[in-house]
Amino acid sequence: MNTEELVLLATSIAKEVGTEIYRLRTAGVQVSDTKSSLNDIVTEADKIAERMIVERITQARPDDAIYGEEGTRQSGTSGITWVIDPIDGTVNYLYDLAAYCVSIAACVEDETAFEDGRRAVAAAVYNPKTGELFYATEGAGAFLNDERIFVSKDTPLNQALVATGFGYTAERRLEQIKLLSGVIAEIRDIRRIGTAAYDLCLLAAGRIDAYFEKGIKPWDWAAGALIAREAGAVLLGKTATELPGETMFIAGNELLALNLQELLAV
Ligand code: IPD
Ligand code: CA
Repeated sequence: MNTEELVLLATSIAKEVGTEIYRLRTAGVQVSDTKSSLNDIVTEADKIAERMIVERITQARPDDAIYGEEGTRQSGTSGITWVIDPIDGTVNYLYDLAAYCVSIAACVEDETAFEDGRRAVAAAVYNPKTGELFYATEGAGAFLNDERIFVSKDTPLNQALVATGFGYTAERRLEQIKLLSGVIAEIRDIRRIGTAAYDLCLLAAGRIDAYFEKGIKPWDWAAGALIAREAGAVLLGKTATELPGETMFIAGNELLALNLQELLAV
């Protein structure tokens, strides 16, 4: 498998589609649908972006599978599944806040890495508002616009800036607030930036120290997880025996990740 080829495809599609959603944003946003709650929106741009990504991947690699946030479930025969989020941070996109991105990951089957049984080997996350292109291939490090990036190394828990996120249903949010109440007094501060894929990239670049969230989906973490891991992050699940995933996703330098796992074990 040529991961170099996969990352070139991921970065070129992420940039092309990111540029298009940015252009569409200047023409205004239309909410076209809602999902799990009234706050869980889908814009026309989400749908257009997913269609573009699927078209580009299918054209370049017709034997690969594709799994997308807006409903794409395309099967394949090559063993590669592209896990894609056309706009992560859709609410930021609606409000024109500078934290939304296109997230694209080429994954292989792996029952030992994440809860969904896949692991990214090449990935790209592009934020068209800031022009930041994050990417990684397995074993070759993580990059931001061609500069190697690394997670913050020695930050202790009480000085850690920690990102998290909330889901869209009231019930999920109340659970998440309970978890947060066990963490907030122990750390420097919390950031709720509004896009899990970008949170993981900011962690990779050392601009936040750790990240945790309950309830994120494979398309939220697939690309960002590889980028964070290649920058030195340790990714953990709820307990030592559980994999990171929807149940719990914790990322940071090893000590911070373990500290958070302990605080979140309720
Ligand atoms: C959401 C964002 C958010 C996270 C939610 C996700 P969307 O994705 O990543 O930061 O807290 O769990 O659902 O809806 O913007 O694609
Ligand atoms: Ca998402």
